[in-house]
Amino acid sequence: MLKVNLFHPDVRENPYPTYQILRTEDPIHKSVIGDFWILTRYCDVKSALLDGRFSSNRRPQSIKAKHQYVLEKGGDLTTLLQASNAQLFFIDPPDHTRLRRLVRQAFSPNVVERMRPEIQEIVDALLSKIRHTGRMDIIGDFAGPLPASVIAKLLGVPPEDHQRLREWSRDLSYLLDPLLSLEQYTHLNSIAEKFKAYFSTLIAERERRPQKDLISSLILARDQGDKLREDEVWSICMMLFGTGEETTVNTIGNGMLALLQDPVALGHLKRNPCLINSAIEELLRFDAPTQLTFRVAVEDVEFGGKTIPAGEDVVLCLGSANRDPAEFSDPDRLDFSRTNNHHLAFGEGVHFCLGASLARAQSQIAINTLIQEFHRMKIQTKNLERRENISLRGLKSLPVSFTL
Ligand code: HEM
Repeated sequence: MLKVNLFHPDVRENPYPTYQILRTEDPIHKSVIGDFWILTRYCDVKSALLDGRFSSNRRPQSIKAKHQYVLEKGGDLTTLLQASNAQLFFIDPPDHTRLRRLVRQAFSPNVVERMRPEIQEIVDALLSKIRHTGRMDIIGDFAGPLPASVIAKLLGVPPEDHQRLREWSRDLSYLLDPLLSLEQYTHLNSIAEKFKAYFSTLIAERERRPQKDLISSLILARDQGDKLREDEVWSICMMLFGTGEETTVNTIGNGMLALLQDPVALGHLKRNPCLINSAIEELLRFDAPTQLTFRVAVEDVEFGGKTIPAGEDVVLCLGSANRDPAEFSDPDRLDFSRTNNHHLAFGEGVHFCLGASLARAQSQIAINTLIQEFHRMKIQTKNLERRENISLRGLKSLPVSFTL
């Protein structure tokens, strides 16, 4: 019997050999370390993402159960529970359909396209501080601060509050982690309370005086007489920080690492900046920032000759699907000329990443600026450490030296 532990730190360090074993030996694998299934082939992961018999609703259910438990001990997860009910990736249709339709109106690809000059300004301001030092930590000095500043600007948060929101949002990414302790849930509840208090004030201001920002658009969004409630507006603002920060930091970090480890690909991209869009798609495929996503079977599901019983959890390995040789030729090689690169880094189906345009714009601008303006970049450590998150894959730091 195949015995793998996808969550073991050594496997998280480099999950690709384990994915390959699973894909070839047992692609629909019942884990021996817990009551859950692991899907690793592109075709299976994609069909599960598109299959309404797999629900995304497990997390609010477990927060509810934890809430009941901590209530008896004098604790409280009310705000986290309230917020989780409006997190798109945790809810199923028809609630999901209604909420997504309202949010999508405010958060369209056009809004993001208009932001490109502002994203470039934020990128340039961050790089101007380190340009003459000859060294930088690509994560700590650059990729880390970028997405929270962009989301804050998009929402209309005043600049003096950016740092505060960035600190809160760093912890929020653990909301996507499947294995949380009670202390982590309690901490997440306190972060949700801070977001609620902060955004409730801002929402009240925008209700009085709407501006050209995303909060005002969320307040004004209408669909056949329906509108977002105030608790939904602040929960959505929180969600944008929670999902949009760490994933984008990791796209830039993982992408730069892959380029620095493949000088031929890096040189090719440096000489051909017009390839940046296809390069970002290939970097997302090659080392997906969201490696795993989770579902629960709502009924017995026949899948590839096996039965996944109702109520059992399913881990969908996006990072493995993206390296499946049945779908991508020579999948372990970076190839910016790959055509029809239909990777699953942003998921698929009703939960397809709402922030994909924003993530793409930021990554294109950030990586293009780094490789065009900084030369002879070299990694300055042999011990690159990964962040501890189970589903999100990224580096703690990426120190490099460079010349101008
Ligand atoms: C490159 C960076 C990013 C990656 C790799 C990524 C990846 C993903 C994936 C895989 C999903 C689907 C999860 C599932 O089906 O279970 C998702 C959903 C989502 N993402 Fe992203 N994301 C990124 C950036 C962003 C940004 C910048 C934002 C917003 C500011 C964002 C907001 C969302 C939201 C709201 C959902 C839930 C959509 C829904 O359920 O309808 N993401 N993302």
